[in-house]
Amino acid sequence: MNNNIYILGIESSCDDTSASVICNGKVLSNVIANQEIHSKYGGVVPELASRAHQQNIVPVVQQAIEQANINKEDLSAIAFTRGPGLMGSLLVGTSFAKSLALGLGIPLIDVNHMQAHILAHFINDEDSRIPNFPFLCLTISGGHTQIVKVTNHFEMEILGETIDDAVGEAFDKSAKILGLPYPGGPLIDKHAQLGNPKAFSFTKPKVGDLDFSFSGLKTGILYFIQKQQKQNPNFIEEHLNDVCASIQYTIVEILMDKLKNAVKKTGIKEVAIAGGVSANSEIRNRLQLAEKHFGWTTYIPKFEYTTDNAAMIAITGYLKFLNKNYSDVSITAQARLKVTE
Ligand code: KG4
Ligand code: ZN
Repeated sequence: MNNNIYILGIESSCDDTSASVICNGKVLSNVIANQEIHSKYGGVVPELASRAHQQNIVPVVQQAIEQANINKEDLSAIAFTRGPGLMGSLLVGTSFAKSLALGLGIPLIDVNHMQAHILAHFINDEDSRIPNFPFLCLTISGGHTQIVKVTNHFEMEILGETIDDAVGEAFDKSAKILGLPYPGGPLIDKHAQLGNPKAFSFTKPKVGDLDFSFSGLKTGILYFIQKQQKQNPNFIEEHLNDVCASIQYTIVEILMDKLKNAVKKTGIKEVAIAGGVSANSEIRNRLQLAEKHFGWTTYIPKFEYTTDNAAMIAITGYLKFLNKNYSDVSITAQARLKVTE
């Protein structure tokens, strides 16, 4: 009798189609099909994203099962992203997961994408450490910017969040102003590594202790670039690395200031980061330094679990499976879903 628990995770909330198999919390496969199509439009086009999911989902799931070296009949349950995300994209993963679970006669488990970004920290990799409860998680992605207090796997409280743009949007919109393609976050990061972070200074927003605001910064960057270009039409080309380094420095300063406030307010020194922007080299460095400077214990996800991936959906499904927290087949996708729901 095989007591192993195999969970297939399916992620299709935005523009990445991903499937992953994990066994007892260990990742056996994590296949991601990125959708190149959006880069020329400067952002994700929902209609095109759902069509690409339709094309990708079968081969991506097949590959994930093959790479895990199991048969689909070995699966214990199917976990899928219920939301938040683009409705058309979510429907592809939701419908596929339902059909496969029904066909195999195994439980279906719905997963909250934002919880999954945080719970990626519970993937059982030999060389990564698992956070102790309670911990603080700075969840930073293309759609969200939040500080979450995590009391338990499924008990979370939002301590602060953005009142306008998400931090990923701040990166992507700044990149667009500089003429860089979507998604611009990784490109700003790349250029920033060759630039001087103190070359230019941008004003930090004034909002509540634990809240964020990025729309003013974006406008500030736009006006700054327009002013410089009036004097020198080649300003961007000549100063791209320094501009990127200065933007990244300002954004990371804002994030670190808020994290420090949250630690002070709660007394919790276990601090994690999650979501696409946690791939950023500067926030990763600064968090590492915080161990030495402020005595925090920090948790930085492996690079492959930062941006959208199905391993995080599968680990969340595994934790729910252990509690027999299954979904009914009548469950529906939800474009809007809070991390606490
Ligand atoms: O979590 P994610 O893959 O999708 C959402 O759920 O939104 O996050 C995507 C975001 C994009 O805004 C992208 O530009 C940003 O994460 N991102 C980065 C980096 N890598 C991805 N931002 C800054 N530096 C990076 N290295
Ligand atoms: Zn995400």
